[in-house]
Amino acid sequence: MAVDLLLGLQWGDEGKGKIVDVLTKNYDIIARFQGGPNAGHTLEFDGIKHVLHTIPSGIFHKNVMNIVGNGVVIDPVIFKKELDALKKFKLDIKSILLISRKAHLILPTHRLLDAASEASKGKAKIGSTLKGIGPTYMDKTGRNGMRIGDLEMKDWKKKYRSLANKHESMIGFYNVNVQYDLKELEDDFFAAVEELIELTFIDSEEYLYQAQKEGKKILAEGAQGSLLDIDFGTYPYVTSSNTTAAGACTGLGIAPSQIGEVKGIFKAYTTRVGSGSFPTELFDADGETMGRVGNEFGATTGRSRRCGWLDLVALKYAVQINGVTELNMMKGDVLSGFKKLKICTAYKYRGETISHLPYNIEKENITPIYTEMEGWNEDLTKMSEVDQLPKALMTYIDFLEKELEVPIKIVSVGPDRTQTIFRNS
Ligand code: GDP
Ligand code: IMO
Ligand code: MG
Repeated sequence: MAVDLLLGLQWGDEGKGKIVDVLTKNYDIIARFQGGPNAGHTLEFDGIKHVLHTIPSGIFHKNVMNIVGNGVVIDPVIFKKELDALKKFKLDIKSILLISRKAHLILPTHRLLDAASEASKGKAKIGSTLKGIGPTYMDKTGRNGMRIGDLEMKDWKKKYRSLANKHESMIGFYNVNVQYDLKELEDDFFAAVEELIELTFIDSEEYLYQAQKEGKKILAEGAQGSLLDIDFGTYPYVTSSNTTAAGACTGLGIAPSQIGEVKGIFKAYTTRVGSGSFPTELFDADGETMGRVGNEFGATTGRSRRCGWLDLVALKYAVQINGVTELNMMKGDVLSGFKKLKICTAYKYRGETISHLPYNIEKENITPIYTEMEGWNEDLTKMSEVDQLPKALMTYIDFLEKELEVPIKIVSVGPDRTQTIFRNS
């Protein structure tokens, strides 16, 4: 049975958590393949609003297995908080959540290194979530990291000590003022590890291989978005993992030949949190309206998200890199009430008109070229059928489908699980 993927196509926060939750009823297994607690995936259902960071977004469904894959980085302290927040739902976590032994561990000193690195960059900082993501993936590729499977070994604390000591000396090199009490951080860390090791650790690539053979339906859940991909994103203002389709292969051990549908998810406009260029960013009342109506505040850090018009040049690039086979458009409801909507269909790049994403999208090189579309006034949030959608919105959707050459299968009209319209065309 092929493995389907669900990936963000912009700079993250497209609504992946919501859609994975909506689609879980069609799957036996939901598997997160990269990222870590930098992610914040929001689910809303039955009057509940819940944010997940490392735990897959299928966790609220009966008879579904949730897997944290080898490509994910896990902070035991944040993981414990996530488990604590789930306690009230009385889920049998030990039997519905499995963790790859090959997933890497975020140590308290990784977080400190993240803070030191950002502080040393000054104005050029990445705008990291400061969860230790970069330093942990650096240790992974540098072949120094600690993995979940190490926690099953007797001498893991020795390994921990030696890595933490090395990190402490590295913090000194940054020559910035990072205040910390390592003893306190380590007390929390060791207590959280005690809880983590009570969970079920697996060789997830083997588990998923057998599941595929048995015909189980698997959905791989991405974190962040394609424009934050370490290779294909707006480097260096990116995260430290492959957020694109290939990341699902390496982050779960799924062979490329086994990938089925690639579901790409995007907002009807664009947002970005953290530093880095954003050609269609708005600094006017329209941008303010998007932020306010869309409640654009980070689910992990609470920072306000920068807002702007839909960037079709960047979106096309993401569709291409990922081989997207179907699209989900989120937050169309937020655009209700705009008289005119703009879609960036090309860039003026160093005097030339181009329609592909160039190496450098710094502000001084790029002027977006927009196509203007009619807006709509109707409140979409109570609509449940395609026929109810306003004509101007259908024109917006038709335009995007034509440009992107991929069908838009889901139109989301609100944060709740039920505010989801399926299109068959
Ligand atoms: P993720 O990181 O991709 O899972 O997305 P986040 O959870 O960080 O951010 C998406 C935000 O938009 C959350 O607050 C969701 O509850 C909300 N959301 C998702 N879909 C819709 C939608 O169609 N309309 C509106 N208004 N909000 C949505
Ligand atoms: P979800 O899964 C939006 C951004 C940060 C920063 C850059 C690097 O919720 O869509 P990092 O902590 O990885 O070193 O930060 O990436 N970023 C996200 N932005 N959504 C996310 O995840 C993000 N995860 C990281 O703001 O600009
Ligand atoms: Mg998010």
